[in-house]
Amino acid sequence: MKKISLTGIKPTGILHIGNYFGAIKPALALTREYDARYFIADYHALNTMKDPKELSERIREVASGWLAAGLNPDEVIFYRQSSIPETFELATILMAFTGKGLMNRAHAYKAAVQANQSKGEDPDAGINMGLFTYPVLMAADILLFDSHVVPVGKDQVQHIEMAQDIAQAVNYTYQKELLRTPEAAVTETVAVVPGLDGRKMSKSYGNVIPLFAPEKELRKLIMRIVTNSQPVEEPKDPENSQIYLLYKLFATLEEQQALAARYRAGGMGWGEAKEMLFQAVNRELSPLRERFEAIRADPVTLDAVLARGAEKARAIAAATLTRLRKAMGIAF
Ligand code: ADP
Ligand code: TRP
Repeated sequence: MKKISLTGIKPTGILHIGNYFGAIKPALALTREYDARYFIADYHALNTMKDPKELSERIREVASGWLAAGLNPDEVIFYRQSSIPETFELATILMAFTGKGLMNRAHAYKAAVQANQSKGEDPDAGINMGLFTYPVLMAADILLFDSHVVPVGKDQVQHIEMAQDIAQAVNYTYQKELLRTPEAAVTETVAVVPGLDGRKMSKSYGNVIPLFAPEKELRKLIMRIVTNSQPVEEPKDPENSQIYLLYKLFATLEEQQALAARYRAGGMGWGEAKEMLFQAVNRELSPLRERFEAIRADPVTLDAVLARGAEKARAIAAATLTRLRKAMGIAF
C-alpha cells in the first residue's frame, strides 16, 4: 500500500508563485509516490473572509489553480473541506485533547496578540476563536485521513507539530494508535519564495506575483522588483538579488549559470536581468494560465469534479470517526 500525502490551501487570496513553488508543485510531485488527498481549506478561510461573493470566487479559483497546475482528479482525492462534515466532528473531539497552552503558543495567534499590544489595543482585539483554534481544525484535516506526510511551506511546520502532539495525546489516552502521527514535508530548495520587495512573497505583504497574471501585468510586476542602486558596469552578486533568486525557480541549470556569470562579470543592468526573468516566468506560466482560464470558464464541471472527490473522501473519513467513537465510548 502506498503512503498517504495530504495538504490543503486556504482560498483567502489570489494564488501566487510562492504558493505554486512552496505548496502546489511539491505536493503534485508527491502524487507519483503517494496516495494523495488535496483539498481547499474553505472553512479556514472564513476566519478572515466574510464577503460571500469573494469567498466563493476564491474557492473556485484555488480549485481551478490546482487543476491547471496538473492535479489529476482521477488519481488524487480532490475536495473542499466544507464538503466533509466529519472534519468538524473530529475537530470537536480533538478539542478535548488539546491544551489551551498549546494554542497560546501558535505563531499566528501570538503574532496577532503582539500586533495588538504594539498598537496599545486589547490583546485579543479582532481575534476570533477560529483563529485561536486554527491548529485544531488543521489537525482534524490531517488526522482524519491517516496522512503520513503533509507537504507545506516552512511557515506551516509548527501546525504539523501541533497535529503530532494532538494525535499522540489521543493515542496515549487510549493506549492504542488510533490516529497516525503525520510528518511535514518541506521542499528545502524553495522553502521561501521571495516577493517583489525582498520579503517572503505573501498576499499579506502585497508583494506577490499572481500565478495566473496576464502577460502584460506579469511584465509590469517583474519590472517593479526592488533593486539597489548599483550601476550597470559593477559586478553583482547573484545570490543577493531577488531577480536571480526568482530566476532560479524558472530557468534551467544552464540558464542559471549563464545569468550568474553575467552578474559577476559586470556590464549587466537590473532592467536586462528583469527582462530575462520575465521571459523565463512567462514560458513556464503561459500554458498554466491558458488551462486555468478554460477551467474557470466551466464552473459546472469544476463543481462536479469536487463533488466526486468529496464522496471518496467522506468514505475514508467515516471509517476514522467510527474507529474513534468506538474507542471513546461514544458509540456502543
Ligand atoms: P500567503 O502567505 O500568501 O498568505 P498562504 O499562507 O495561503 O499564503 O499559503 C499557502 C501555501 O503556500 C502554504 O503551504 C505556504 O507555506 C505556501 N507559501 C506561501 N507563500 C510562500 C512563499 N513565499 N514561499 C514558499 N511557500 C509559500
Ligand atoms: N494552514 C494551511 C495554510 O495556511 C492550510 C491548511 C489547512 C492545511 N488545513 C491543512 C495545510 C491541512 C496542510 C494540511 O497554508
